[in-house]
Amino acid sequence: MHVLAASWPLFHRVGGVILSRWAHFLAGITWIGLLYYFNFVQTPSFATFDAPARNESTSKLVPNALWWFRWGAMLTLLSGISILAFQDQFNSDYFKTPSGVSISTGILLALVMFSNVWFVIWPNQKVVIANATNVLGGGQADPAAAASARKGLLASRTNTLLSIPMLFFMAATSHFAPFHTSATSGKRGAFLGIMVLITAILELNGLGVFGTEPGGTRAILDKHKNTIITGFVYAAVLIVLFEVFFS
Ligand code: HEM
Repeated sequence: MHVLAASWPLFHRVGGVILSRWAHFLAGITWIGLLYYFNFVQTPSFATFDAPARNESTSKLVPNALWWFRWGAMLTLLSGISILAFQDQFNSDYFKTPSGVSISTGILLALVMFSNVWFVIWPNQKVVIANATNVLGGGQADPAAAASARKGLLASRTNTLLSIPMLFFMAATSHFAPFHTSATSGKRGAFLGIMVLITAILELNGLGVFGTEPGGTRAILDKHKNTIITGFVYAAVLIVLFEVFFS
């Protein structure tokens, strides 16, 4: 008999961990794959469509894509929490270790992204979709639709930016952080404090708090190329800080 079947506690722990991780990767690629499709493929392509083609696509294609997108985000979150629960990481000093700080960083970035999906992108896209469907049926255009599209775009680009450091720290938890040394609570706090501060500024920018028109602080979001570069710069900053505080 296999060792996992021989011992229920071991099966529960190891089986639960691997099943949660499997679900987590499947859901994560569904979510982030669609995020990259929206940002790198759909938005630039739609900009070249004629209005009737864009309205038809927005009315009939975008709702399907957004269904998989937001429920992918939900399952990613739930399976991630399930990994933590099965690995018993809630019950120990795990979050004080370099791996614990790494997963805290990944999760914080992912939670900001999750909130953007459910509380910014989806509500604004509902306005955009309703407008496209209405116009397609011969109705009047909603003057608020353009502003909603812009708000959704800024949040979506912010998620693309944050996904780059987020995924580094998800993977770093088991494959990079364990090669580091534990730090004092002061150093851990400093790393997490700087990370929260920079993330908060990027998120406020993505919510349009500093303005919504192109240019200014939105320059990092106006073109997806700028967004990708900023994402890698932010990841590099966090990696260097991690090295400084945990070596
Ligand atoms: C939404 C909140 C999220 C939570 C609570 C969460 C939680 C976790 C946890 C607990 C782990 C295990 C870390 C370890 O012990 O090695 C993990 C790993 C991972 N997560 Fe997430 N995660 C979230 C979002 C995401 C997203 C959006 C992605 C994107 C694809 C993602 C991809 C991964 C990957 C690739 C790993 C690496 C596993 C490994 O290296 O073995 N996670 N996550």
